[in-house]
Amino acid sequence: MSGNPFSPTTLGQLNLKNRFVRSATWDGMGFTDGSFSPAQVELYRNLSAGGSGLLTTGYIAVNPQGRRNPEQNLLSNLKQQQSLSKIAEVVKRHDTSLQAQLVHCGGLASSQVSQQTLVAPSSVKHPLFEVVPQELTESEIKTIITNFGETAARAREAGCDSVQIHAAHGYLISQFLSPFANQRTDDYGGSRENRARMLLECYKKIREYVGSDFTITIKINGSDYLENGLECHESLTVAQELTDLGLDGVEVSGGTQASPLTPVPQAIKAGKNELPFAAEINAFTKALTIPVIAVGGIRSLETAEKLLSEGVSLISLCRPLIREPDLVNQWQAGREEAATCSSCNRCFIPAFKGKGIKCLQKK
Ligand SMILES: Cc1cc2nc3c(=O)[nH]c(=O)nc-3n(C[C@H](O)[C@H](O)[C@H](O)COP(=O)(O)O)c2cc1C
Ligand code: SF4
Repeated sequence: MSGNPFSPTTLGQLNLKNRFVRSATWDGMGFTDGSFSPAQVELYRNLSAGGSGLLTTGYIAVNPQGRRNPEQNLLSNLKQQQSLSKIAEVVKRHDTSLQAQLVHCGGLASSQVSQQTLVAPSSVKHPLFEVVPQELTESEIKTIITNFGETAARAREAGCDSVQIHAAHGYLISQFLSPFANQRTDDYGGSRENRARMLLECYKKIREYVGSDFTITIKINGSDYLENGLECHESLTVAQELTDLGLDGVEVSGGTQASPLTPVPQAIKAGKNELPFAAEINAFTKALTIPVIAVGGIRSLETAEKLLSEGVSLISLCRPLIREPDLVNQWQAGREEAATCSSCNRCFIPAFKGKGIKCLQKK
């Protein structure tokens, strides 16, 4: 198994120049009408010049009701699609691929942003939801599934090379997977098969819309790390079922904002406590035949090399590339120092003020 992070590889239909992925990162820079801004084109130009083989967009809502932030992008009309095309264009100049991440935030959406009722699998009080959401009807679920398909088709049309279904971190699909958030008694709740139905139907619908010659991945929690949340053995079985249906890759993350271990873990130190989701990532790598993408607290080239030698296919980085967008090029040029990101999460502060993500740690 190659441990060389700079060796080329494939992900479904994609030929990638190296093993580095920019993990999906909401940047707080989109226009409030959902279209991509010139500031985002610049951000992606910079990231693609920085060396990663594949860039994932921030989470794009599949409809306005699924939106959580005012600057969160949408991809439901031609204007939004054409604005994404500009990003696809600049990224290609650096032999970099672009993956659009698609989400519905469900109970984690904001009714202030969407001006619509909050919806979720079940009408339950949840520590993360602003109000008790309305339970989705089966016909509303089918509409959202179609929205995933339509949005994926627009992503392909805009020039993206792949789409990623966001099934992690406590958003709508993750809510369906979780026995805590999903207390339905119909075909979409109860058994693991039923809780996974939404995700499987989203995958099938997207495949129908984008065809067989297009890469589809998912980002899923190896575990929610919550009592009565999704656990690794179930999450892994769902990934196996999707593999049988033709899924091209799985990014393994973990946690929700209510979990003791969150998706964006703090105080990571290179060589000490990197990769907090290691146990789940290892389980996925051993069991699956499709590429596994490792994410969460990877800070050093040594850790990347070790993961690749253990069978992981791709290394996904988020915060290190906010601070040092050219980190991959620097590592390839011989830099030995690990990422200097301290995982303090202060980059969210300007984004929540509408000014876009920015590293606030001193040089
Ligand atoms: C500012 C910011 C925005 C993020 N936005 C998203 C997102 O849109 N979708 C997603 O799946 N994860 C998102 N994440 C989580 C990252 O993709 C990644 O899973 C997490 O930060 C752990 O990786 P890291 O230790 O390399 O930062 C975000 C993280 C940060 C810091
Ligand atoms: S503010 Fe800078 S150092 Fe802190 S997590 Fe964000 S990118 Fe890393």
